[in-house]
Amino acid sequence: MCGIVGYVGHRQALEVVLGGLHRLEYRGYDSAGVALLGGGGAQRVARKAGRIANLEAVLDADGRATFGGTVGIGHTRWATHGPPADRNSHPHVDESGQVAVVHNGIIENFAELRGELEAAGVELTSDTDSETVAHLVARAYASGETAGDLDASVREVCRRLRGAFTLVITHSDVPDRIVAARRSSPLVVGVGDGEHFVASDVAAFIEHTRRAVELGQDQVVVITRDGYEVTDFTGEPASARPFTVDWDLSAAEKGGHDYFMLKEIEEQPDALANTLRGHFAAGRITLDEQRITEQDLRDIDKVFVVACGSAYHSGLVAKYAIEHWCRLPVEVELASEFRYRDPVLDRDTLVVAVSQSGETADTLEAVRHARGQKARVLAVCNTNGAQIPRESDAVLYTHAGPEIGVASTKAFLAQIAANYLVGLALAQERGTKYPDEVAREFAELANTPSAVQKALTTTDQVRDLARRIADAKAVLFLGRHVGYPVALEGALKLKELAYMHAEGFAAGELKHGPIALIEDGLPVVIVMPSPKGRAMLHSKLVSNISEIQARGARTIVIAEEGDDVVRPYADELIEVPAVTTLLQPLVSTVPLQVLAAEIARSRGYDIDKPRNLAKSVTVE
Ligand code: F6R
Repeated sequence: MCGIVGYVGHRQALEVVLGGLHRLEYRGYDSAGVALLGGGGAQRVARKAGRIANLEAVLDADGRATFGGTVGIGHTRWATHGPPADRNSHPHVDESGQVAVVHNGIIENFAELRGELEAAGVELTSDTDSETVAHLVARAYASGETAGDLDASVREVCRRLRGAFTLVITHSDVPDRIVAARRSSPLVVGVGDGEHFVASDVAAFIEHTRRAVELGQDQVVVITRDGYEVTDFTGEPASARPFTVDWDLSAAEKGGHDYFMLKEIEEQPDALANTLRGHFAAGRITLDEQRITEQDLRDIDKVFVVACGSAYHSGLVAKYAIEHWCRLPVEVELASEFRYRDPVLDRDTLVVAVSQSGETADTLEAVRHARGQKARVLAVCNTNGAQIPRESDAVLYTHAGPEIGVASTKAFLAQIAANYLVGLALAQERGTKYPDEVAREFAELANTPSAVQKALTTTDQVRDLARRIADAKAVLFLGRHVGYPVALEGALKLKELAYMHAEGFAAGELKHGPIALIEDGLPVVIVMPSPKGRAMLHSKLVSNISEIQARGARTIVIAEEGDDVVRPYADELIEVPAVTTLLQPLVSTVPLQVLAAEIARSRGYDIDKPRNLAKSVTVE
């Protein structure tokens, strides 16, 4: 949460920083701000509540030329301490206006630090935890052992901070450098020719360079025009991992679509193909990073999947596959609940942590708790080198590419596919599936990109339907077996994008309460199982549909193509391609994503940036 960027080089920093902020806006959009160091060392700050457009209006009103200079930092905020307001917008400055700070994360001991500053007579002007850092750095720079040394001052302050943070800091006394630090929040350096960048995400500088360096835990980096230097919080040289970004600017742009989310929905066949690529060779499933021994994998006697939101739904799908293929009990846990209920974990437990961003604080803490209890942790993640994979024993990356729309789409499908690979890898290691069975399951998976491509041909029909039901008060979603998590995901998409009341239910539960919600004209989306693959469940669901239809529901049925049995029960029938039962979520989710996006669009909402949300949830 919160996007931060810094630039030192030969270009006008304002434009570079604003460009970076636009690409990071998915991380939070409660306010935006910049600080620029002009040639003479004067620091100019502009910040404004709301979207980056509001900040740009301020810059235009003041005259962009007055924000000259080739060194600058910027921030786009997701509010934690203090409401979205101009005074709480970053950058924060010290009393002299010489130090400017942008921050992502939460400083847990900020009340204590704030008290100390107030006792010393410092006047704080915001409600944030971040402002304390500006004053602390200014004081460390002004006197004592670190006087006159910005790098050392930042390191000293970092040693005093508790919590998770990425900080990017400038001081007008040293207008040729930016000092940045990280603990548990992301920070990457971009390496250009005669220019360097720091940012929460490579997307901020991808149009300038694909060469990047990922900082490790508790590291400080100083960037200048000519280079970068990494140390730990005590000043000892430290090593950080250089890498080359394997996607380019076009992946981070809308490519002719009105919204990133619409582009990302269309990219799903590629996201699946890229995620599966290279993971089945010489008859065996392989992971990306494997630090668990084969014997330890064979000894696993229980699996937990921990995740949040859509990633959690991908875990619910995985449970069906892993239990079926591996004959292991699987529990799927909301990461935010996991460590508070004393789950039974030991060295024979495998915890699969699923996270697109690899930064989600709840999931990260669940990983730490699991490892603390000696469980083995396997991360399924879409972000190379993020904190969750770094702290895990094994990693399988989804290769969905950058997902910028806040609502997860292509990453969700890629997570389902990756979770299946984990299941197959376990089955292969434990011998619960013969090699030819594993090969057959993989071959089915490998066919899903084309099935998803076909599912996308329902888009026009679904958009038309969406416009017709956009005024509904609520929408219910029903499913059974793997269709149940799909129903939950469909409801989540609609809640977060269209701000409508939407609930997903296991269809069999309907008669135990939720059927009371059915009233005349209420749209109910039903995710059907295959009439061939799951004949018994199919007929039960047909009965469920007729029960709600009898009570006035408007039935929208997602069914396998050629399912003539359900046709008479569907006020609207959306046909998706036939795939094996476990793979159905990959095709039946697609129309639900389109439905939510189009209803939201019809209601006039920004589907890439739903209110109150941010893409990476780095607070618990
Ligand atoms: C919903 C959505 C969220 C995320 C959740 C976990 O559309 O995007 O529910 O799935 O916040 O995020 P990651 O996967 O980054 O841990």
